[in-house]
Amino acid sequence: MLSDAERRNIDQEARACGVRRAAVSEALMTVQKARGWVTEEAITDISETLGLSRAEVESIATSYELVFRRPVGSHVVMVCDSVSCWVTGGERILSAVAERLGIQPGGTTPDGRFTLLPAGCLGACDEGPAMMVDGELFGNLTAERAMEVLTRYGMG
Ligand code: FES
Repeated sequence: MLSDAERRNIDQEARACGVRRAAVSEALMTVQKARGWVTEEAITDISETLGLSRAEVESIATSYELVFRRPVGSHVVMVCDSVSCWVTGGERILSAVAERLGIQPGGTTPDGRFTLLPAGCLGACDEGPAMMVDGELFGNLTAERAMEVLTRYGMG
């Protein structure tokens, strides 16, 4: 069930966008911001609130990599595994981060603090290898710099 605040935000966004379909990504992010991830029930609620089919909302949710469809940790680390980053050493960054966090890509640390996700292009191809933590982008990474970034987010 959407909260009043979530419903208000979604209505506001739908009015601002004019086209209800255009408001879906904002609606998904509104829910995710409040709950950390987007449940099946939230997909249904958003589709009803925006007057769209569930399939329409679902297809946008699944195509949008920043929408999490299962519980994630307090910090979400996304390491780009697309071509430009792969040729500049993205694979090494992903391995180094996975090793430091002690989890496999796709996993969450047992304390629930970090989730590590391989990601498609993060839009920083000329600064590869790149990763994103909680929406903040970091480029030109080395394994050492990636460790510094993790430390900044509380990885001791
Ligand atoms: S390929 Fe990695 S950011 Fe674009």
